[in-house]
This record gives sequence, structure tokens and C-alpha cells, in this order.
Amino acid sequence: MMNIIDASFVRGFVKMADDGFKQGWHERNGGNLSYRLKTEEVEEVKPRLNCPGEWLPIGTNVPGLAGDYFLVTGSGKYFRNIIDNPEACIAIIELDDKGENYRIRWGLVEGGTPTSELPTHLMNHEVKKKVTHEKHRVIYHAHTTNVIALTFVLPLSDEIFTRELWEMATECPVVFPDGLGVIGWMVPGGREIAIETSKLMEKYDVAIWAHHGMFCSGEDFDLTFGLMHTVEKSAEILIKVMSMNSGKNQTITEDNLRDLAKDFNVNLPERFLYKK
Ligand code: 13P
Ligand code: ZN
Repeated sequence: MMNIIDASFVRGFVKMADDGFKQGWHERNGGNLSYRLKTEEVEEVKPRLNCPGEWLPIGTNVPGLAGDYFLVTGSGKYFRNIIDNPEACIAIIELDDKGENYRIRWGLVEGGTPTSELPTHLMNHEVKKKVTHEKHRVIYHAHTTNVIALTFVLPLSDEIFTRELWEMATECPVVFPDGLGVIGWMVPGGREIAIETSKLMEKYDVAIWAHHGMFCSGEDFDLTFGLMHTVEKSAEILIKVMSMNSGKNQTITEDNLRDLAKDFNVNLPERFLYKK
């Protein structure tokens, strides 16, 4: 039996976390990631799991996930450090037979608890497990700079955000054809925001938290990271376009260019000088 950190789902998780860090989406301990293990993956790692510790409350009820195992990031742990020290930053947790409590079975060797956004992660997983017929396994929360910036200037409506972001990159409507949802500012880390986010996950794979970040759901690490990356890139293009539309206050004029041509004895064709 291999080490848990060598299992392919753990390696995929760690790589994705590092990719997110390199994008600049995970300042300090910002963001969190969770993965619902397949039955065969649970069997693969079971001989190496720790003796069960105490059951602790999830902070919400997820009966649809009773008995499931998850790989999750730890609360307060830095994405930046995951690649160097996964055992200290991430954990495998097991849920009880009611979906009300969890216990740590591996990882967080220096102490700690799963992400403070565990209620949102698990409520999203519960919804997605059902509506995708068990296909979706990854829930990803990142502090994506451009999407966050847009939540200060665009109306916080699903329709407006979806339409604006679809328009900025031809592939967007293909990558998230169901659109995306937005919720206004709420206190993070609890059951209330988890309920609102999981409602959006019934119909979308992307939920934006105003002035905070984004949640994405997907089948695997590539698709979920790719979704986050696509939405954030589209937001970056939109911000560039909006910034450019503010116009110039002053510029090099046609006449300036003519004067330059004269003094420097170069020929600047008129057709490039004249602006339609
Ligand atoms: P955690 O460190 O508890 O995962 O919290 C980070 C975060 O992004 C909260 O929204
Ligand atoms: Zn956050």
C-alpha cells in the first residue's frame, strides 16, 4: 500500500491547490478546496488511515453525504504551503451515518480543523451529488481578484453577471452554459451562507460571493480549476474593456504627429494620422 500523499487523487488535489496559489487567488489562508473520494479510493487508503478520533459537528446537516469521505484543506492553512507540506495543511475526513458530524482520519498533523467553509463545501457537495448523479466531486473556493472587483460595480444579478462574462470570451457560453449565480455580501463561514450558496448550486456550477470570491463545482480537478480560471479570465477582460472605455484625458494629437514628422524628417502617412 502506497503512502496517502502518493495516491493520485491526493496528488491531483495538491497540484490544483498550487495552481490556484500561482494564479494569485490564495493570499494568506484565502480559499479552500474539497474532494469527495470514490469508493475505490477510500478502499485504497483505508489501511493507512488513522484510528478514528472524536466526532465533531459539521455545523449543518448533509444526510445525502452520510458515510462519505472527503479530502479538504485545513482552516487557516496557506495554499502556498500545501505543495511542501500536504500532511500539515490538508485532511481526509469521514462523515457519520446521519451526515451531521465528521472526524479526521488523516492529515492536519500539526493540529487544526477542516476549512471554516466546511458547511458550504458539504452542502454544495450534497446538492451536486444529487443533481449530477454522483458525477461532481470537487468544490473549490478562491479569492479571484477580477470577479471580486466586478462585484463592486455590476448589479448583483445572475443575469447581468452571466451575460457580461459570456460576452467577454467566445468560449464562456460553452464552458458555463447554465450561467452563474451571485449572492450579496454575507458573513462567511456558517450555515446561512452555505444554504444560500447551495441553492445556487442547484442550477449553476459557479456561485459568486460579492466582495469575497467564487465557488466552483466540477467532476474532477481539471474541469473545476478550468471553470474557475475561465470565469476569472473573462472578468479580467471585462475589467480591461471597462477601464479602456473611460477614455483618455489627453493624448498625442494628429498635429503633434505632423510636427514630429517634420522635425525628425520622417514620413508619417496621413492615413494613419487621421482618426475616423
Ligand atoms: P479557511 O482558512 O477557514 O479555509 O478560510 C479561508 C476563506 O477563504 C474563508 O472564506
Ligand atoms: Zn474565502
